[in-house]
Amino acid sequence: MPLKIAVCVSGGGSNLLALLESLRNFGGAQVVLVLSNRASAAGLGHAKTFGIPASVFRNASDGDEWLELLREHHVDLIVLAGYLKLVPPAVIAAYRGRIINIHPALLPSFGGPGMYGLRVHQAVLASGAKVSGCTVHLVDEEYDRGPILAQSRVPVLPGDTAETLAARVLEAEHRLLPAVVRAAADAGRPIPIPQPVESNP
Ligand code: GRF
Repeated sequence: MPLKIAVCVSGGGSNLLALLESLRNFGGAQVVLVLSNRASAAGLGHAKTFGIPASVFRNASDGDEWLELLREHHVDLIVLAGYLKLVPPAVIAAYRGRIINIHPALLPSFGGPGMYGLRVHQAVLASGAKVSGCTVHLVDEEYDRGPILAQSRVPVLPGDTAETLAARVLEAEHRLLPAVVRAAADAGRPIPIPQPVESNP
């Protein structure tokens, strides 16, 4: 039985798209549901293109609403791919160890409340770090705190702006997230995976 995945998005959905493309010819996992807190999230369009049921929360803080949808679609794994709100505690409790998030920096640095979008990359540049990257981690009750499953490193280059760094990190995200999901499908649950190939400048 393939691992059934719900992907939560708030915006562009490029990680969702990368995941859908990566799973196209992979029997081990399938995206069965796309959820969003925003009706205008472009990720909902990707769901439509791929013929996947999609739903916009009436109230994204209502755990019962989440659990009803997740159970209806027999979801095994929840993937937060650019989902900007907290997952309700009842959902964390019901799916503990089976919710993953991708973050556009090397956690535990540059994470936590308010650290999303370009702010993350601005903070990396301001710190003078020479390396950034992305992290996939298990989700718990706090933003960006759960155990790390995998990271991919990318260089910070001279002259980088938050935008150029974000674009380089996003490319790495598009490889890292599918790699973690495939490993989860093979293992039946999310597991740590070894350091994937580093991206080239
Ligand atoms: C990504 O950088 C992801 O790490 C972060 O939000 C961004 C979402 O991008 N959590 P997209 O919506 O997948 O294009």
